[in-house]
Amino acid sequence: MGLLDGKVAIVTGAGGGIGREHALALAAEGAAVVVNDLGGARDGAGGGSQNMADHVVAEIKASGGEAVASYASVATMDGGQSILDTALRAFGHVDVLVNNAGILRDKTLANMEEAMWDVVVQVHLKGTFCVTQPVFKHMKDRGQGGVIISTSSTSGLNGNFGQCNYGAAKAGIWGFMRCLALEGKKFNIRCFSLAPVALTRLTDDLPFFQAEEMKAKMDPKLVSPLVVYLASEQAKHLTDKTFFVGGGTIAEMRMVRNEGITKAEAGGLWTPQEIASKIDKILA
Ligand SMILES: NC(=O)c1ccc[n+]([C@@H]2O[C@H](COP(=O)([O-])OP(=O)(O)OC[C@H]3O[C@@H](n4cnc5c(N)ncnc54)[C@H](O)[C@@H]3O)[C@@H](O)[C@H]2O)c1
Repeated sequence: MGLLDGKVAIVTGAGGGIGREHALALAAEGAAVVVNDLGGARDGAGGGSQNMADHVVAEIKASGGEAVASYASVATMDGGQSILDTALRAFGHVDVLVNNAGILRDKTLANMEEAMWDVVVQVHLKGTFCVTQPVFKHMKDRGQGGVIISTSSTSGLNGNFGQCNYGAAKAGIWGFMRCLALEGKKFNIRCFSLAPVALTRLTDDLPFFQAEEMKAKMDPKLVSPLVVYLASEQAKHLTDKTFFVGGGTIAEMRMVRNEGITKAEAGGLWTPQEIASKIDKILA
């Protein structure tokens, strides 16, 4: 008995890195998996190589699981619909969507070309919309609930030097999931964001990952058990949560508001001078 027997899961960008591990882990617990990957380079260039998705489908089948490949790009509405259609043709319905596909075009803002902004926002933020909307509508119409897990990043949630395009897209994904969690509640569609950390082709040139002992600690397979848990009935009481996950650590990430200051007099209108005198309390 697997935790996900009878379930159908879509994982985007599942041809390598973290997405491949999600696909293998979901299949190992009994889910039938749509392995989506357009087979491009780290920066999103190229594409059209079916090998990446096919290879992961073969791995799942070799272990006795069920899987089908999708080579569509997440970055268009047609691509998103095609990914859903692949799932419906192969398995009849969808229970779980993991939005994971991603690329990088890092530059400081002063050196960033418009195209570097556009393509990163297109794949991450628009891509999450393009796949999520048709899948959400399918889950809503089917009436059996569902789970949508989207991949954000500490680069967006905490900020990271040289990643304004990527960080903006990743913070946008987080805001998207927070709103969709509210819309999904009455249909029992549960929504989550992940901020993973793992050694993959996206991160293998970062100074942080150069030490051998760090490489060993940051295996992408350490991210996926959380995805399996969230997708399963064991997490049926949870929605609208954001998790940091990687290197053996799992933690909730939260947006917090402190007590701040409130003025009753003058209709609540603070003067700039009063704000200056209270700034330590506002930031406490
Ligand atoms: N590795 C990390 O430490 C880390 C940290 C934070 C966030 N992330 C996020 O995790 C996700 C997975 O990244 P990874 O590190 O495994 O990198 P990766 O490059 O190994 O995996 C990304 C996959 O997405 C696929 N892809 C790219 N554009 C696509 C498109 N338009 N349509 C379909 N597939 C597409 C790629 O072919 C690739 O296989 C990404 O969203 C990334 O931003 C990773």
